Amino acid sequence: MKSSHNIVLIGFMGAGKGSVARELAQNLDRFNVDTDDMIESSLNMKIREIFSEFGETHFRALEKNLAKFLAKNLKNAIISTGGGFAMVKGLNKIGKVIYLKASFDCIIERMRNSENAEKKFAKRPLLNDLDKARELHKSREKIYEKKADIIINVENKTIKQIAKEIKKILNKEKD
Ligand code: S3P
Repeated sequence: MKSSHNIVLIGFMGAGKGSVARELAQNLDRFNVDTDDMIESSLNMKIREIFSEFGETHFRALEKNLAKFLAKNLKNAIISTGGGFAMVKGLNKIGKVIYLKASFDCIIERMRNSENAEKKFAKRPLLNDLDKARELHKSREKIYEKKADIIINVENKTIKQIAKEIKKILNKEKD
């Protein structure tokens, strides 16, 4: 992989995309950006507010625009994405796509046991109803797999272990 290429982390809510992106950025001496953060800061609104004021459809349109912007303007970065961002067209034009894969139960269990569990659930409108979220996970798994260049099983692994695994694969590809 060329060093100018971005790395795009995809996967379900709570899979650890943001934390892995930060760790990878440090390891690879790159900068990381997050699609939700970019959308939040450009509207000066939180994701939950965007959902409740403008609706999910509008949020998806913002993701679509952002995808075009990233493909055109960003290089050499680690990009963590919102769980639905992988549905945009031309995802692989942005960079090398890595899917952080974990079962729904594993993700929810880990979120529940995390330090700021309440905050993690509160900021994600699509986790309000866990039955619906489970269905969403099920329906998205195949899409994530199809869109991914690399699939990393992240269950029972620390952020450092996941980042190390990714780095190893990327290094191998350089040879
Ligand atoms: C969403 C995931 C969230 C955020 C929004 C919608 C989704 O990001 O983009 O709440 O559709 O899966 P995280 O994956 O960072 O939680």
